[in-house]
Amino acid sequence: TNVYVLCGGKSVEHRVSLISASAIINSLDKKKYHVYPIYISDEGIWSNLGIVEDEIKEISELMYQSSNTVISSIETFLRSSFNEREQNIVFPALHGTNGEDGTIQGLLEILDIPYVGNGVMSSAIGIDKVVTKDLFAKHNIPQGKYTRLLQHQWKKDKLFSIERIEETIGYPAYVKPASLGSSVGINRCANREELEAAIHEAFSFEDKLVIEEEIIGREMQISVVGNEFPKASVVGEFIQERQFMDYAAKYTDGKLIQVIPAKLTEKVSELMREVAIKSFDVLNCSGLVRVDYFVTDDERFYVNEVNTMPGFTKLSMTPALWEKTDQTTYPELIEKLINLAFE
Ligand code: DAL
Ligand code: MG
Repeated sequence: TNVYVLCGGKSVEHRVSLISASAIINSLDKKKYHVYPIYISDEGIWSNLGIVEDEIKEISELMYQSSNTVISSIETFLRSSFNEREQNIVFPALHGTNGEDGTIQGLLEILDIPYVGNGVMSSAIGIDKVVTKDLFAKHNIPQGKYTRLLQHQWKKDKLFSIERIEETIGYPAYVKPASLGSSVGINRCANREELEAAIHEAFSFEDKLVIEEEIIGREMQISVVGNEFPKASVVGEFIQERQFMDYAAKYTDGKLIQVIPAKLTEKVSELMREVAIKSFDVLNCSGLVRVDYFVTDDERFYVNEVNTMPGFTKLSMTPALWEKTDQTTYPELIEKLINLAFE
C-alpha cells in the first residue's frame, strides 16, 4: 500500500500539521507501506518530498533533501503518482482551513482516491463552530449559549450587533473566528470596549464569528474512532501546568498535563462518552473525531467543539486516549485509521 501523507497546508495550523505528519510518517511500518509525504506550502503550492524509508525528525529535513518538485497540477500529480496496480491511500494530516474543512476531501472524492478520516460534509460542518452548534442544538447535545456575527451585519450596525450580543450572551463573552483552530483570533471580553476590539481583531481573520458565553470548567476531550460502529475512548483532561508546578517540572515539558482517565464520577464519564458517540453520529463522521468539553465543578458538561482531524503529535490527546483506553499504540491507531478508510 502507498500512503500519501498530506502535510502543512494553507492554514494557521500549518506548523501543527507538520508535527502531526512527522509523527504519522514515523509510525508507519515501512516494510508494509510505501510512505510519501506531500508538502503543501502556506501559499498552497504542492511538493512531492519523495519516499521516506527511515525515521525523520521533521518534515523540513525532507524539504531540503528533496529536489522539491513543484507540482503544476494537483490532479495530474496525484493521478500520475499513483501506481494503479497497488493500493493507494491519502492521509490528510492537515488541520484547519484547506485541509480539515472538506476542501481537500472534495478534491480526493472527485479524483476517486481513498483517504483517511472524515468526508466532505462532516469536515465542512465540523470546521464551522456556528454550523456545528446549530446542528448540535437540534440534537440536544449539551452546549453553552452562543450567537453568530457576520461582518456585513457588524458593518451595517455596530451598536445593534453589540446590544444583541449583550442581551443573548452577556459578559464575559468569548469572541472566536467561526472556523479557525489552535486558539487563533480568540479573545475573552469583560466589557463593551473589549468586545468591540475582539470583534475587530477576529474579523481580520474571517468574516464570520461565533460569540460564546463563558463556562468555567475543566477542559476534557474524548476521541471517537470507527465507521458504522464507532467507539469512544475514556475521558482525558488537560490541566494547566502552573497548578501543578512541581509535578509538571518532573513529568512534562509542555504547558499542559494530560490526566487520563479524568477524575470524574463513573456516571458522568459514561454520559460524556455517549454524547461523544452521538456527536460522531450527528456529524455523520467516518474514521475519527475528537469531541472537546467543558466540565463544571458540579460535573455538568458542555460540548465546546469538535475536531475532525485532531492533532496527532506525539503529545496529542488522541493517541494518548487510545493508549489508556485499550492499549492501542500510536502505530496501531494510525493503521486502524487507514484500514477504516478502506472499509
Ligand atoms: N486543532 C488542533 C490540531 C487539535 O485540535 O488538536
Ligand atoms: Mg480545530
